Amino acid sequence: MQTSANLNMMKKAARKVGRALVKDFREVENLQVSSKGPGDFVTKADREAEKLLREELLGARPTYGFLGEESAETEGADPTRRWIVDPLDGTTNFLHGLPHWCVSIALEHKGEIVAAVVLDAAKDEMFWAEKGGGAWMNESRLRVSGRRQMIESIFATGVPFGGKGTLPATLQDLARLAPVTAGVRSWGSAALNMAYVAAGRFDGYWERGVQPWDIAAGLLLVREAGGFASAIREGDDPLVKGSIVCANEPLFDGFRKVIRGE
Ligand code: IPD
Ligand code: CA
Ligand code: CA
Repeated sequence: MQTSANLNMMKKAARKVGRALVKDFREVENLQVSSKGPGDFVTKADREAEKLLREELLGARPTYGFLGEESAETEGADPTRRWIVDPLDGTTNFLHGLPHWCVSIALEHKGEIVAAVVLDAAKDEMFWAEKGGGAWMNESRLRVSGRRQMIESIFATGVPFGGKGTLPATLQDLARLAPVTAGVRSWGSAALNMAYVAAGRFDGYWERGVQPWDIAAGLLLVREAGGFASAIREGDDPLVKGSIVCANEPLFDGFRKVIRGE
């Protein structure tokens, strides 16, 4: 399929950062057994990855804004366009030597996500989408799963770390949801959770307390793969309110009701 210059540039930037992170990831595996541990090293890798993305994306499109996890937001001369970037989503996995993390890049235009790239560099899987052009993984078209029954479906979430304010509500979600599903997974990357919903690997995903860079690219992936995505509360914008629920069409309403406790 014909892709835009922006998307091609996003893919190139993601690959460049992905290569640097794969190198760092190998180093983490060595540091894992050292007495100091890989903590500081990962924080540095994370920041460097964002710096590289900022250089690549703003170098190519200097008028766009830039919102990333690791640095202050940059307002662009063009207020209608903004990059929303998580240079490393799944940091805790990365830190522990678990190969499940990604680079996430979204392009927002007039409040809507119009292009998305989520690169799982360790597995060489690039999920990407453009508004109206479908969702893809490498060269294959993606579709959300066809499951219709909650009890046959697998749902992903992020179980918050101790001390995070969203833990009690998430535990209540789990108490309501787990008994009516085929299982719940918490694999530690919001962006990959959404890419996996787009790919039909997970049937749905929800999370409370997410940031725009965790879910911006995933929103477009899920929708372009034929799925539904919204905030947990009716009418909220997931990018503003920081909650997300997504699934295929047959499951979406029932799943969201369970999460809402209705
Ligand atoms: C986190 C991951 C995790 C999710 C958290 C995010 P980070 O992002 O996506 O899966 O549960 O809400 O903050 O810190 O690894 O970029
Ligand atoms: Ca993140
Ligand atoms: Ca991050």
